[in-house]
Amino acid sequence: FIYAHSWVKQRHALIRILRSEVHMSTEERGGSGPDPGAGVTIGATVPTGFEPTAAEEVGEKIGAEARIGKDRGRIYFRIGADKLPLVHRLRSVDNLFVVVAEYNNYQFKESKEETLLDLQKLASQLPWTIALEVWKMNNALKKKRGRRRGGNSSVLTPKGDVSKEGDTEADSPRPEDEEGRDEDGGGCAPAERDAADKPLKFRVTCNRAGDKHSFTSNDAARDFGGAVQEFFQWKADMTKFDIEVLLNIHNQELVVGIALTEESLHRRNITHFGPTTLRSTLAYGMLRLCRPQISDVIVDPMCGTGAIPVEGAIEWQQSFFIAGDNNDMAVNRTVNNTNHILKRRQEGGSSAPGLRMDTARWDLCRLPLRASSVDIIVTDMPFGKRMGSRKKNWDLYPSCLREMARVCRPATGKAVLLTQDKKCFAKALSRMGGLWRRSHTVWVNVGGLHAAVYVLKRTGWVHGAAAEDGAEGRGEGEEEELL
Ligand SMILES: C[S@@+](CC[C@H](N)C(=O)[O-])C[C@H]1O[C@@H](n2cnc3c(N)ncnc32)[C@H](O)[C@@H]1O
Repeated sequence: FIYAHSWVKQRHALIRILRSEVHMSTEERGGSGPDPGAGVTIGATVPTGFEPTAAEEVGEKIGAEARIGKDRGRIYFRIGADKLPLVHRLRSVDNLFVVVAEYNNYQFKESKEETLLDLQKLASQLPWTIALEVWKMNNALKKKRGRRRGGNSSVLTPKGDVSKEGDTEADSPRPEDEEGRDEDGGGCAPAERDAADKPLKFRVTCNRAGDKHSFTSNDAARDFGGAVQEFFQWKADMTKFDIEVLLNIHNQELVVGIALTEESLHRRNITHFGPTTLRSTLAYGMLRLCRPQISDVIVDPMCGTGAIPVEGAIEWQQSFFIAGDNNDMAVNRTVNNTNHILKRRQEGGSSAPGLRMDTARWDLCRLPLRASSVDIIVTDMPFGKRMGSRKKNWDLYPSCLREMARVCRPATGKAVLLTQDKKCFAKALSRMGGLWRRSHTVWVNVGGLHAAVYVLKRTGWVHGAAAEDGAEGRGEGEEEELL
């Protein structure tokens, strides 16, 4: 009750602030920040290439129109204070933050000294109030959820350096929260610290992209961070911080935000990791591309640790998922991951039904499935780098496309396939004798590798009747287009 009460109080306080700040002048609000009367802007990092998919999810679940950031891998949308809990239900987003201020055309000075001085001045001029209230509300929300789930929320963990150039993704796999529809990976330390009136611990993380800057992201984080410290009298702590201030710089664009998630949400489902475990957010994006329907049979024939079918079985409970792999260790990991989710659900007293998912050990080239029995295939193929080899892919990819065509329903079946071995894939597809038609391709970044997600539609051609080697399929010319 106490926590629910504090959440309601925070919400009312924010609504009061939102109302009162509508009447403040731009200067009083500290410059070119967003108009708070219209709500707050939430920013989210998403897997690159999946920005439109994430924007679509925001529209569907929150009813807000998301805009895609100039910087790839980011979307922004405005919400009212009451929509904050819904933000944590988004499955396409890796990290969430509330925007303090954004400048589309920030005039960075030519000299490093002048630019850093400007950034220092900026810290005291920003309209922090609303963003900080949202951050507090978010903490209360996390705490409430933690209580509801039996106080099992994670604590703040060390996060590495003061600032990172470019990519913000942490790569080392680490067990994290279960699927929890309301999970956000958040701890409860900030609210407690706040209540005890101790000075907050903070850090500034700067992500910078663009080659025309006279400063590094470390310079910016250090000098802006120093000014933030002075302004708020907070204590800098790079590892055990309560609040993380974000400075995102992309060419002339500058966005200051406050993180609402302490860890990327992409690790939400998996506890037993493998060498190439796919991010849950990317798995979600791939599944969304094929728009699963009620009673669809969805297969991941190369499931590895099961990131795709596990995400699917949690999110699309009206479909049925089958996962398989030819590697015993992979099959065990998938089973362990599903069991872990079921156990956590049980311990949390959840009444959610079990996962509609089966796992098998099989060879993808000879699937123990009837012809035309599958609606959708979603899989992450061996790139031939960490998993398999480029040489083996020349045999694997054609066999795989042919066998997938056999089990997939003609005319209505779909396949969403991720690979970085685009050349091999293009060649294999061109030799499928018209069994598959390419619908579109999404270009993605997987651990720094430029990969493609191919969305294929199963044509009406009956497997076995189609001629091999492109007689009825696409010509060699189309390979170029696929690469
Ligand atoms: C890129 S990994 C999939 C990773 C997975 N998405 C995850 O999140 O862990 C490719 C998987 O294909 C499996 N594989 C390779 N050849 C196979 C075959 N002929 N039949 C079934 N699985 C195969 C490998 O064992 C590997 O687990």
